Amino acid sequence: MDLMDKLVSLAKRRGFIFPSSEIYGGLNGCWDYGPMGVELKRNVKEAWWQDMVARHDETQAIDGAPSAFSMVGLDSSILMNPRVWEASGHVSGFSDPMVDCRETRNRYRADQLVIFGIVKDNQNNISIDENALLFASPGELGKTNDNELLAHHKKQAKKTIKALGEFKLIQIPNALADEKLRARTIAPSASKPGTLTEPRSFNLMFQTHVGALKDNSSAAYLRPETAQGIFANFKNVCDTARVRLPFGIAQLGKAFRNEINPRNFTFRSREFEQMEIEFFCKPEEADDWYLYWRNSRYEWYINLGIQKDKLHLREHETDELAHYAKSCADVEYEFPFGVSELEGIANRSNFDLRQHMEHSGKDLRYLDDLEQEKEKRRFLPYVIEPSAGADRATLAFMCNAYTEDEISGEKRTVMKFHPKLAPIKAAIFPLVKKDGMPDKALSIYRQLRTHFPVSYDEKGAIGRRYRRQDEAGTPFCVTIDGETMKDDTVTLRERDTCEQIRLPINEIVEHIVEQLI
Ligand code: GAP
Repeated sequence: MDLMDKLVSLAKRRGFIFPSSEIYGGLNGCWDYGPMGVELKRNVKEAWWQDMVARHDETQAIDGAPSAFSMVGLDSSILMNPRVWEASGHVSGFSDPMVDCRETRNRYRADQLVIFGIVKDNQNNISIDENALLFASPGELGKTNDNELLAHHKKQAKKTIKALGEFKLIQIPNALADEKLRARTIAPSASKPGTLTEPRSFNLMFQTHVGALKDNSSAAYLRPETAQGIFANFKNVCDTARVRLPFGIAQLGKAFRNEINPRNFTFRSREFEQMEIEFFCKPEEADDWYLYWRNSRYEWYINLGIQKDKLHLREHETDELAHYAKSCADVEYEFPFGVSELEGIANRSNFDLRQHMEHSGKDLRYLDDLEQEKEKRRFLPYVIEPSAGADRATLAFMCNAYTEDEISGEKRTVMKFHPKLAPIKAAIFPLVKKDGMPDKALSIYRQLRTHFPVSYDEKGAIGRRYRRQDEAGTPFCVTIDGETMKDDTVTLRERDTCEQIRLPINEIVEHIVEQLI
């Protein structure tokens, strides 16, 4: 079993993540968080809100920020006036190229189908045989393992390979746009070439209707990002929150995209949660703020326990940038299925506010009245946007935590979450179900649960109870034994080292709380 299969299986077994509406066969791209998962994801979102919104300091520069700044929160509606999405460019441009296979009926994102050709390799003089077959393979561009692909297609391409003698595979860009190349391409799992359709544009927004009438006038969209709710409220926040530049508006909430190919567990879903900040600043200060947010967002994942060697900050090439973006970087994590984006940080210039000002006819310019009266100026601030996914972050924390090790000759699976993110902070066990131990354990359990989430377990051998908690990622187990009944001390077992210490009951809370900071 590969790591991802093991993780999906643990997620189900321990109540982290279930397929949505599973008893009816599920719904592709939708997932439910079980009792453990909901706590974990809440902790991820809470850590983000605390670190990004609540803990800022508007009187003094923090963590290497260019200056002090304010942060405020927002919770805008999922359904909005459809003109928002016209102004933002989502109606005309939020689409992916889609192709269908007529034989297998599978649907693919054209930009994620890697097309390979088998070519003769005459020392840098690569030539492609005009009649040779091409092979399509699903996978992020450039991330497919060429050797595996070659082995997979060897049988099918036997004749072609024979004719060519020395051969290797090369990737052929834009092959699907060319009718002749398409006719020679074998789709994944197809038996013959030429079954892929021409790529066509597919808008990712879910459309719905507001009110009783179902016509164009009542059409609306489920928001595909939370960001536009922030831009649409920019004026409201400026008018009411007494914020001065530079300041940020943060929002956390559901977003919906009709992804052509949801995959890799929760990584690409159709319903997911975003954690977005739109940070408004003077245009001349935007480059400095971009660097600040890029670094600060990278550090956030590290501070919550993501291994540094698995987290990358990738600056986009100029040709990858949207036309309005001045710069953009991705925080990427080495998932078991490949290196993939967790979060994007972009300098979006004043594009969004300008679009909404034009489409709404409302003046969204910021009045810089702190400056001398005669220099008072109105302008559209620049925006730095750190945009993260709560589900992707949760998945990364789960992949990062998953560990198989051996303690005293016994194999175990343990989720080594940062204590701050762990769903349950401590489990309380009476060693045996007699001699007053369950009552004592229950009274400790009731005392601790007023401070943080805890669980009580008196069933089975103590070793098995530890294993259950290891899989749930519980950082501490508290055992009530014979000595407890005499001197009011307990054993406290630490998840990662399995080391046990003896502690007076009245010191448990303090000991655990220290680890949660
Ligand atoms: N406002 C900018 C924006 O929405 P994005 O790169 O499309 O940018 C931001 O999305 C983040 O939202 C991504 O980095 C990812 O974490 C998350 N995200 C986007 N699409 C997703 C999907 N289909 N499933 C899960 N998370 C997704």
